[in-house]
Amino acid sequence: MKVLVTGAAGFIGFHVASRMLVDGHDVLGYDGVTPYYDVTLKRRRLERLLDSDGFSFSEAMLEDKLALESAATEFEPDVIIHLAAQPGVRYSLEAPEAYVSANLVGTFNLLEIAKQVKPRHLLIASTSSVYGANETTPFRETERTDFPISLYAATKKACEAMTHSYAHLWKVPTTCFRFFTVYGPWGRPDMALFKFVSAILDGEAIDVYGEGQMQRDCTHVDDLVEGVVRLIDTVPREGSPVEDESVTDSLSPVAPWRVVNIAGGKPVGLLDFIEAIEAATGKKARKNLLPMQKGDVTTTFADPSLLKALTGFVPSTPVSKCAQDFIEWYLSEYDAG
Ligand SMILES: NC(=O)c1ccc[n+]([C@@H]2O[C@H](COP(=O)([O-])OP(=O)(O)OC[C@H]3O[C@@H](n4cnc5c(N)ncnc54)[C@H](O)[C@@H]3O)[C@@H](O)[C@H]2O)c1
Repeated sequence: MKVLVTGAAGFIGFHVASRMLVDGHDVLGYDGVTPYYDVTLKRRRLERLLDSDGFSFSEAMLEDKLALESAATEFEPDVIIHLAAQPGVRYSLEAPEAYVSANLVGTFNLLEIAKQVKPRHLLIASTSSVYGANETTPFRETERTDFPISLYAATKKACEAMTHSYAHLWKVPTTCFRFFTVYGPWGRPDMALFKFVSAILDGEAIDVYGEGQMQRDCTHVDDLVEGVVRLIDTVPREGSPVEDESVTDSLSPVAPWRVVNIAGGKPVGLLDFIEAIEAATGKKARKNLLPMQKGDVTTTFADPSLLKALTGFVPSTPVSKCAQDFIEWYLSEYDAG
C-alpha cells in the first residue's frame, strides 16, 4: 500500500509512518518542519524514517498547494493520513493566524488534492478539544461539539466539517480521529509530560494549572498508532453503520464519513500524573499551583465504544507506562544529544 503521511516529522506522524514502514508499506512523508518547537527533534525523527528504503520525504508547507499537489499526484497514494497541523491549545491564544493558515487553508489544500487523487481512504486528525465546554462525560462522537473554547478547537471542528462536505460531494471516504492527550517516546516539548520531566530532572519547579484539578484521558502513542492502523481498513461506507446495536455510529447519513475517538476512557488526575512521573524519575516535583489557563478544559474523558465496535481495540496502557517509556527515551536519546 502507498501511504501519504502529512506531519511525518511530528510526534504522531513519526510513529504512524514508522509503523507503516514496519508493516511493509511505502510511505511518503510531507511536512514543513515548522519552528513551533525544537526543529532538531523533528530532523532527528526524519533521519530515523529516512533509514528505511520505503520512506521518501517532501519538505514543504501545506499552504504550498503546488508542492502538495505535485508530491501527491506523483506518489498516487492509496491512503492519506493527514496529521500535519498547528497543534496546541495555549499557543492558539498567542498566534491564532498559524491555526487559520495550517489547519484551515492547509486542510482545504489537502482536500482539493484528495478530490483529484481519490485515495481509498482519507484519515485526518481531530482532537478531544472539540468537545469544548461539554459537561456530559464520557464524550461520545454523536454529541454536539458546537461550543469550542479555543481557536485550536474551532479550527479542528472546522476541519471535521470541511472533510464531511468533500466526502459527500466527491465521495472520498473519510475518517476523522479525535485524539486525546497522547504521550510516549519522541514526544512534543510543548506538552505537559515533556515539560514536567525536563523540569523535574533539572530540579526546577513545575507549573501546575487548574490547581492540579484537571483530568486527562491519556493515550500511549503505541496504542494510538494501533487504533489508527486498524481504522485504515475500516473504510466508512454510506448506509453501512457498525453492526453493534449497543453503539451509536457517527457515520454520516449522506457521505462515507465518520468521526472516532481514539482513547481508553480512563481519565487521570493531574496530580496522579505527576506522581507517576515522580515514581519513574525517582525525584519529587516542586509544584507551582496556578489557576486554569484560558482555553483549557477541565476534563477530557472519551467513550471508546465506537472504536471498540469498529476495530475490537481499546487503548489500555496505563499512564505510568507512558511516563516510563517517555523518560527512558528522554534520558537515552534526547537529553544525551
Ligand atoms: N499529540 C496530541 O496529544 C494530540 C492530541 C489531539 C490531536 N492531535 C493532532 O494530531 C496531529 C499530530 O500532532 P502531533 O502531536 O504529532 O504534533 P506535531 O506538532 O509534533 O506534528 C505536526 C507536524 O506538522 C507539521 N506542520 C505544522 N504546520 C504545517 C504546515 N502548515 N505545513 C506543513 N507541515 C506543517 C509540523 O512541522 C509537525 O512536524 C495534529 O493534527 C494535532 O492537532 C494531537
